[in-house]
Amino acid sequence: MGDRMRGRKALIWGGGTGLGYACAEAFVAEGAVVFLAGRRPEPLRVACGALAGAGFDPGDITVEADVARVTRAAADFMGGLDTLLLSSGTSSKGSIFDAKVADVRHVLETNVTSVFLATHHAAPLLVASGDGSVIAIASVTGVAGMRERVAYCASKAAVIGMVRAMALDFAGLGVRVNAISPSLVMTDLARTMIGREKYPEAVLASRRAQHPMGRLGEPADIGRTAVYLASKDSAWMTGQNLVVDGGFTAI
Ligand SMILES: NC(=O)c1ccc[n+]([C@@H]2O[C@H](COP(=O)([O-])OP(=O)(O)OC[C@H]3O[C@@H](n4cnc5c(N)ncnc54)[C@H](OP(=O)(O)O)[C@@H]3O)[C@@H](O)[C@H]2O)c1
Repeated sequence: MGDRMRGRKALIWGGGTGLGYACAEAFVAEGAVVFLAGRRPEPLRVACGALAGAGFDPGDITVEADVARVTRAAADFMGGLDTLLLSSGTSSKGSIFDAKVADVRHVLETNVTSVFLATHHAAPLLVASGDGSVIAIASVTGVAGMRERVAYCASKAAVIGMVRAMALDFAGLGVRVNAISPSLVMTDLARTMIGREKYPEAVLASRRAQHPMGRLGEPADIGRTAVYLASKDSAWMTGQNLVVDGGFTAI
């Protein structure tokens, strides 16, 4: 327990599971109040039960009316909003030869348009807070390519680009915008993608071997990085992409 985020009020999209939940846990442990959103009520309810003082409202981040309602509900619940963490996301397997256009559109809508919508609706509250922080979960696939992930790689590179543009728009208004780019962390999303491989165990072993530090990421690795970006510790940092990958992209 610490107090690096004491008094902060964070809306976390995708906060019911995986990396979003790990960030919520880390924020609460540092004294913040959190409000969780995602489509399915049950994971949000369970997550909320484990986090002191947390609230939630189910909603789809690709639907503007949902985003507007959830953002208002978060601000009403917490008495304002100064931190926006964007962890909602999806993936799909497909190369330039076989990806379906419907899948490409779905991934771009869920991973990229979502970042615009959620930040656009939170913007007045973030500015009013006088000390806002937006954190988007991008991916190492936004800075390095990956075979058979044509849509996912494009979506994460787009998030990193949008983070830079938004950082400039918000600069001087007291709101910082940064991205975190993790390599592989075994969450539901990662398990689903690896489970679709013909030889999941072999793929997992080879993915692990690609990480010089000898292990895959833990959700808490991302939670700690999010605390850094949400707190005063990173007060002079905006428009950046922190790669958290056990050395994966250092090779
Ligand atoms: N795990 C990794 O190795 C890894 C690495 C790099 C980047 N990332 C990124 O990290 C983020 C979180 O992924 P994760 O690994 O933690 O997997 P996860 O547990 O499956 O988290 C994804 C979250 O997004 C929510 N979501 C999906 N579509 C949504 C929508 N339309 N509206 C609102 N919420 C939506 C899901 O909740 P509902 O289904 O209930 O809506 C879920 O809580 C993603 O952006 C992912 O691309 C993950």
